[in-house]
Amino acid sequence: MSEAYRAPGGHDRTGQAEAFDAIGSAYDVAFPHKAGQLAAGRRLAAELPAGSRILDVGCGTGLPTARQFTEAGHTVLGVDLSAGMLELARANVPSPMAEFRRVDLADLRPSGEGPGAVGQFDGIACFFALLMLPRKEIPSALRLLRSLLRPGGLLGMSMVEADLDDAAIPFLGHTIRVSGYLRDELRQVVRDAGFDIAHEESYSYAPARIDAPPEHQLFLHCRRG
Ligand SMILES: C[S@@+](CC[C@H](N)C(=O)[O-])C[C@H]1O[C@@H](n2cnc3c(N)ncnc32)[C@H](O)[C@@H]1O
Repeated sequence: MSEAYRAPGGHDRTGQAEAFDAIGSAYDVAFPHKAGQLAAGRRLAAELPAGSRILDVGCGTGLPTARQFTEAGHTVLGVDLSAGMLELARANVPSPMAEFRRVDLADLRPSGEGPGAVGQFDGIACFFALLMLPRKEIPSALRLLRSLLRPGGLLGMSMVEADLDDAAIPFLGHTIRVSGYLRDELRQVVRDAGFDIAHEESYSYAPARIDAPPEHQLFLHCRRG
């Protein structure tokens, strides 16, 4: 279990990290059907040249995404707020092509010093991670991700479709705070951050446990504009 985490950027995420430390592998048990995420990861992996460098933002347990990228011959840096999730990711994806680091996504930087200074990437996966931020932080987080992409780089991202801002919800026996948008607004936020949306998929999703509500998942495949 991790100590309380206050990101260098000053965002207090303490409750979020602790919830995911405690949720741990229950996350993959509750969300066993990952067809949308697998397809989005496959698309990203396939469109990038072999040996690309990919950032997995809010990598969770490393499954399926970080493992999928290493198996496709790419190198992956997975970042997450939760020490417990990172421990699972290191065990699930023991490949030398993968590294996992504890960083708040808001503290990622293309250059400089410290754990958040991650350089630039050919591709970024950001599946169900931006929804953990209050809405006021999401546009700047997207612009930040754009700054971490090389020209022409790709972003695969997903959100749950919901008109919510930093709403406390029960999730797998814990309380987490989540935000979301209805799909037109999400597209606008993504475009305003400097991305072209090349492809979009939506999935209706019923988790395997009743304490995680049914949801509509939106997957956007974007190119740095
Ligand atoms: C809903 S899970 C998604 C995990 C994984 N991307 C997947 O789709 O299977 C959200 C993950 O984001 C992490 N997270 C939450 N807030 C974060 C932040 N500010 N920076 C980095 N990771 C964060 C959580 O610890 C958790 O592992």
